[in-house]
Parts: sequence; C-alpha cells; structure tokens
Amino acid sequence: MSTKRQILVTNALPYANAALHLGHILEYTQTDVWVRFQRMRGHACYYVSADDAHGTAIMLKADAKGISAEQHIADMRSIHEADFRDFLIGVDNYHSTHSEENREYSELIYKRLVKNGHIAKREITQSFDSEKQLFLADRYIRGTCPKCKTEDQYGDNCEACSATYAPTDLIDPVSVLSGTTPIEKQSTHYFFKLPEFTQFLKTWTRSGAVQDEVANKLGEWLDSGLQEWDISRDAPYFGFEIPDAPNKYFYVWLDAPIGYMASFKNLCDRESLDFDQFWAADSSAELYHFIGKDIVNFHALFWPAMLSSANFRTPTKVCVHGFVTVNGKKMSKSRGTFINARCYLDHLNPEYLRYYYASKLSNSVEDIDLNLEDFIQRVNSDLVGKLVNIASRCAKFITKGNDGLLSATVENPALWQQVSGAGEKIADFYENRDYSKAIREIMAQADAANEYIAAKEPWKLNKDPSKQQQVQDICSLGINLFRVLLTYLKPVLPAMTADGEHFLNDCLSWESIQAPLTEHRINNFKPLLQRVEKEKVDAMLEASKQEAEQAAATPHKGPSAGEPIADEIGFDDFIKVDLRVARIVKAQAVEGADKLLALTLDIGGETRNVFSGIKSSYKPEDLEGRLTVMVANLAPRKMRFGVSEGMVLAAADNKGIYLLAPDSGAIPGHRIT
Ligand code: 2FM
Ligand code: ZN
Repeated sequence: MSTKRQILVTNALPYANAALHLGHILEYTQTDVWVRFQRMRGHACYYVSADDAHGTAIMLKADAKGISAEQHIADMRSIHEADFRDFLIGVDNYHSTHSEENREYSELIYKRLVKNGHIAKREITQSFDSEKQLFLADRYIRGTCPKCKTEDQYGDNCEACSATYAPTDLIDPVSVLSGTTPIEKQSTHYFFKLPEFTQFLKTWTRSGAVQDEVANKLGEWLDSGLQEWDISRDAPYFGFEIPDAPNKYFYVWLDAPIGYMASFKNLCDRESLDFDQFWAADSSAELYHFIGKDIVNFHALFWPAMLSSANFRTPTKVCVHGFVTVNGKKMSKSRGTFINARCYLDHLNPEYLRYYYASKLSNSVEDIDLNLEDFIQRVNSDLVGKLVNIASRCAKFITKGNDGLLSATVENPALWQQVSGAGEKIADFYENRDYSKAIREIMAQADAANEYIAAKEPWKLNKDPSKQQQVQDICSLGINLFRVLLTYLKPVLPAMTADGEHFLNDCLSWESIQAPLTEHRINNFKPLLQRVEKEKVDAMLEASKQEAEQAAATPHKGPSAGEPIADEIGFDDFIKVDLRVARIVKAQAVEGADKLLALTLDIGGETRNVFSGIKSSYKPEDLEGRLTVMVANLAPRKMRFGVSEGMVLAAADNKGIYLLAPDSGAIPGHRIT
C-alpha cells in the first residue's frame, strides 16, 4: 500500500435556516463514503463540517420566529447534527461559522488581503427599504421586468424573458419585506479584487483541481472577464463586523468557506492536531471540498484566490456534483417529493439511500435521479437478493454442521482470486469518486458468488452424509466471498457492516481481504437487512406531502406588520370567495399532526370538517362554541388525516395566531361580503 496520506475533507456547509433534505444527503453521502474509504485504506482522513450561520435570511428568519439569531442558529444546528448522525455521516467535527475560530480566521484573511492591496473601497448605490432600515438584496425586491413588462419579477432577473438587470431598473419596484417602494441610497462597500487573480485562476482551474467539465465552464467565465467581488454588507446584518469598518459586515459568502478552516481549527484544538500542517502554503496534506454545481464560483474562483493572497494553501480538489431529482422531476412539495432528511429517517433505513446514491454517483456533475421504484428494486435486488443472500444461504450449514467453524481450505481458488483480486480496481473507482462503477463491479462479483453457490447446490449435497465436508467447503467459500464483498461495501454501509463483522467475528479492512478466513469461528447469522417495503416509501411520500400541507394550513407568520399587499383584484374575483360565519361545534387534536386541530364547523344546516394549523395557540376546548369565519367554497383537500372541507381565517405573528370572529349575534351560515 502507498504511503499514508494526510487528508482534510469538507462538505458544503448547510445554511442554518432550513431543515436538510435529500439533496443535502446526496452530497454528505458522497463525502462520507470517500472519507470512510480513505480511512479503510489506512490514510489519515479528517472530515469537518459546520452550519453556515450568517446572513440576512437567517436574521429575518430569527426575527419572524421572535427569537435571537443566536438561539435560532443553535436550534438549527442541533437539528442538523441529528440528521448527520442518523444518516451515518461520520464527521470528525461539526461546528458553526458563527464561532470565535471563524471570526479569527476571517479577520486574519481579510487583513492579509488588505495588506496585499487586494481590497478596494468605494461608494455604491443600492436599493434601501426605509421602513425596515435595510439595504435590500436583489431577492428582496420585486417589480415589473423592464424588458418584457412581466409583473412580479425578482430584482436581478426575469423568469419570463430571462433578462438580467439591476434592481434599480425594475418598473414599480417593491420591497418584499415591507411592501414599500425602495429608495436608492449610497453606502461604502469593500471589494475583493478578483480580476487580479485571473492568470492564477486560469492555471489553477486547469491543474486538475476540478473536473474537466467544471474547468470548461470556469474557463468561459475567466475569458469573459471577472468582476470585483463585493464582500461587505451594511448593518443590520447577522455576521462579523469588518475590522476598522464600523457597521460594515463580512458578506456571508466571505466567511462561509473560512468556516472549513474554523471547524478544523476547533478539531485541532480538541485533538491536538497540527492546523498548519494542513493549511500552510507549502502543505503537503491534501484538501478536498465536496460541493454542488450551484456554488462553483465561490469555491473555484473566490476561495482559491483569497487563499493564495492570504498565503494559505489552495484546495487539492473541489469535487462537484449535480442536483437530486425525484422520479425524474425537480423535488416538489405538492407531489411529496421534497423530502426532508428527517421524514425519510422516520420511514426508511438510511443505508438504503446511501446505497442507492452510491450506485448512481459518478465523477460528473450530472443530476442524480432518485427514482423511487428503481430505489426499491435496486436495494432489494442488490443488497437483499444478492449480497445478504450469499451469507444467509451458507451460514446455516456452517453453524449447524460444523459448530460455526469455517473450513481449512478454499474450495475454488480461482473464484476466490477473482473476487478478492477485484479490490484494487474497486479502490480506484472509489478514489476517483466513480462509486457507480465500484458498485457495478461489486455486484458483478456478487453474481459470480451466487452462481457458484447455485451451481454447487450445497442444500442438496447436505442430504448425503458422505458429502458433509464438501458442503462445509462450499459454504465456507461462500462466507469468505460474502466477507470480501461486504468489505468493499463498508464505506457505503457502515451499520450493516458492523453487524456483518459481528456475524463474521472479524474486523473488515481493505488489507484483510488478501487472505480468506480458514478454521475461523463465525457467529450465528441474523438477517442483516430488511427488504424495502413499498408501503413505507408511499408512507414517506404521504408524510412529506402532509408536512407541506400542514405548513400551508398554518396561518402565515411574518413580521407583525408590513406584509406587502397582494396584487389588486377586481370585485368579480373577490366575490368568487364564499366567506361564511361558522360556529365551531367541535375541536380536537389530530394524532400525528403537531400543528393541526380538526374543527367541525356548523355553517347553518351544514357541517364541515376543516383541518387548521392553529394548535400552537388554541386549546380545543376553548374553541368549542365560538364563532369564526370560513372560506366555504375552497376545493376539498385530501390530507393524511382526512379531507379538509374549507379553511378558517386567522392572522399570525411572532407571538401567536388570531382566529377571526364576527361580532356576537352573527348567525352561522351567513355570507360575509
Ligand atoms: O449553498 C449553501 O447551502 C451554502 N450554505 C454553502 C456554503 S459552503 C461553504 F462555503 F461554507
Ligand atoms: Zn422579462
């Protein structure tokens, strides 16, 4: 085996403002498999991650929840950490970009950029929300496209005609945060002089640091000319204040990748590792970042340029993957295919998905489709039908016939050589992140093992007392082949492998596949994996849909005032909404739905069942007998808990939910106009 490598690996740091979904899990699986593989090969491989905790979106989210940004990011961090743990993502350290280490390195790098003349400072004009006292990022401004005149477009591009423009070009721009018209205001900003790194980046991006297809895309950007990068934001902003620039903050994307260093520093301090060995400009250690294709510019342009100016090493490789689609389409809340990591874990074994993703991942940026029919079929056929089947067919003859002791000889040396000899080829596939090829090769070897057992039919031989030794020899080879195959899959299936190691009474390492287990005692076989049940997949989709529906049935919480007024409608449109006075006859909690109450409403001789996301603010018994207002002609919606036949009206803010009520005396069933 080659010399021991020192490797540091990261995944893209998830934003601390949303739950993780199966798109995130693709990347973490890709990263984790690679890390586990490197460790199995005897290398020192550290894997760090963190929450990406800064920025306006996180500040506003905390605001809307009525809690401090610090509290909000702490809550999110523990949710993310639990998802990492339960998907068996073996990070050595999970940290936060809102940490002292990150402040220290962000300031250090920034000061070095300043010293090297790589920071420019100038006044710029930006849209400003005078009610909220905030400069507005493009996504917080909407208006009419200056080119095709389509209404309600974002501040930077038009979804209808794809035009790109400055928010100041929008016709009738409106702040999404307050509904007011933004004004233009000047402010001093700090810029990283990226164009000065053009030559360096042209060389770096062609040095093997990114896949060829990524280098080609970067080449187009480099040829068309780089722009200086605005690295500052005005207060109020949740982040780090820029040294010697009061009320100016580092843009979240400045300190996010520095979060890789910060998390590693935190690990170094805890485990007495040498930080500089990994980050010094002349470091011989390797640095790998795993990211999605949407954030290539930050990792393969800004980041290496910053690192080189600040006299740190640059990444060995930035490994870029594509997006996840589900059943061939973009993940969708209404179809239930926008699946949160936790929702998946509530229904299915994480190793099913780890295996499925591995069987589809390659070293390209192509999107990966999670086709749920194929997922069920692939996992059941490969893992249960092929892999586990080898052990389950052979184990009983060894444990019963030979008290668990494997034979002293290898029954078919050529087959043993073939399966154990595939190790280096499979290792190369893992090393190059061509996991789909590794899995294909492993399954081809599993087919060979199964064909061997099927041809030998030990269950028939076993009926003949004179063939007992033959049975033992065949099944011992079967178990040994299973052991090698499981070793190959150890990076993908850590939990199943741990159970397999107990069964085999052996620790599986890449080196140990050189020699078969002979005269070695194994333990009783217990099933290592259940089949994927379609019902559970369907239940997950349904739960996912319900999560989205519950969110939709919950009164929208925003900052207490200032929601922009929706587009004007005519009286004819308004009159289409049939609002009725309703009496709540019955209110009760809904099992399995933490936000919903089931309301039975009397609207004058007719009763309706409505699910409403008001549970956090009302006790069911307090609602019974009350009058409220409902939309009576909303199309019924089928939810997991039953059909919702309308909607009650409520407002909501940070403190609670406020159900609408007519004055006393109103009669259930009366139409409201
Ligand atoms: O795109 C994202 O989800 C970012 N939070 C990734 C940051 S990666 C790194 F730079 F921190
Ligand atoms: Zn347009």
